[in-house]
Amino acid sequence: MIPVRICFYRDYGGPDVLEFGDVDAPRPEAGQVLVRMAAASLTPFDCKLRAGGLKAYFSPAFPNTPGRDGTGTVVALGPGVGTVQIGDRVCVMTPGTRAPGTCSELLACDIGLVVPLPDALSIVEGASLVNASLSAWTCAVRVAGVKAGDKVLVHAGAGAVGGLLVQLCRHLGADVTATCRSTNKDYVLSLGAGKAIAYDQDEFTTLEPQDIVFDLMGADVHARSYQVLKRDGHLVYLTAAPIVDRGAEFGVTVTRAMIVDDPEAVAPILALAANGKIKPQVARTLPLSEVAQAHRLMEAGEVTRGRLVLTI
Ligand SMILES: NC(=O)c1ccc[n+]([C@@H]2O[C@H](COP(=O)([O-])OP(=O)(O)OC[C@H]3O[C@@H](n4cnc5c(N)ncnc54)[C@H](OP(=O)(O)O)[C@@H]3O)[C@@H](O)[C@H]2O)c1
Repeated sequence: MIPVRICFYRDYGGPDVLEFGDVDAPRPEAGQVLVRMAAASLTPFDCKLRAGGLKAYFSPAFPNTPGRDGTGTVVALGPGVGTVQIGDRVCVMTPGTRAPGTCSELLACDIGLVVPLPDALSIVEGASLVNASLSAWTCAVRVAGVKAGDKVLVHAGAGAVGGLLVQLCRHLGADVTATCRSTNKDYVLSLGAGKAIAYDQDEFTTLEPQDIVFDLMGADVHARSYQVLKRDGHLVYLTAAPIVDRGAEFGVTVTRAMIVDDPEAVAPILALAANGKIKPQVARTLPLSEVAQAHRLMEAGEVTRGRLVLTI
């Protein structure tokens, strides 16, 4: 067996629990393809899971290999994988926190969680889009049904999900406002927001009434968002951070967007990116060998303007 290098952690803890080791190469079973991983994205979820902050919701298998999505090239096929071929460039998702993660040189991937990577996109661009697409597509298209002319407020517009939401809502013809730190105002305007509000300087509650608010922050941001919604407006939130549903009081619909791994939420965004309608946002790249430093940067709030992508 050829050894395969993986990143893993044996128990919850700080970024220093991340280590490397060799395992036997996985074999693709029926319905799986073997992917030589080239890139994996780092998301807030990865950091929260590693730190033990999601114990109430997930029971990861230990040792746990982090990374819930990424890109690579198909190098072997199990039976029953349809038209996918060796050499195809693909985006992959992993089936939950008990499955091996993408911070690995080789990964056996369920064909139902594999999406072709368009030729026009690099491996890093693809990795920056997979996980963020799930949230952005689910929130904007499936839950809110954003349409031309809607007034939409996107919180955290400089983040990976928020930046994609800004671009997608703009593409759908909405009139978009985004919140971000003051030094990112020009950045979110460049993504297509018509207005940017600095959360560290200004108050977003003075904004004219909105049809839809996407709350990616929870807590106080959620509480104050009711004030900027039109009656019959829609507050769509992502995080499980403490929120109090005041929908009935304000006459608005409040929906928690449930994000599940779904190629049909990723493929349309990849197509928009391949056609130049959406620009992938890569905050920075680091080699997988620096994964602990990547986690530290994310926890320090120093990953901004898109996704941090680990190259493998
Ligand atoms: N429930 C789910 O399934 C699910 C799925 C995906 C994401 N999420 C959650 O959604 C959030 C965003 O995810 P992400 O991947 O986009 O994270 P990210 O790339 O790390 O972006 C987070 C952004 O939050 C912004 N921010 C911090 N404080 C803010 C405030 N008070 N007001 C407005 N923006 C603020 C920061 O903006 P600046 O850079 O401008 O400071 C940063 O860019 C995370 O909390 C994540 O856990 C949940």
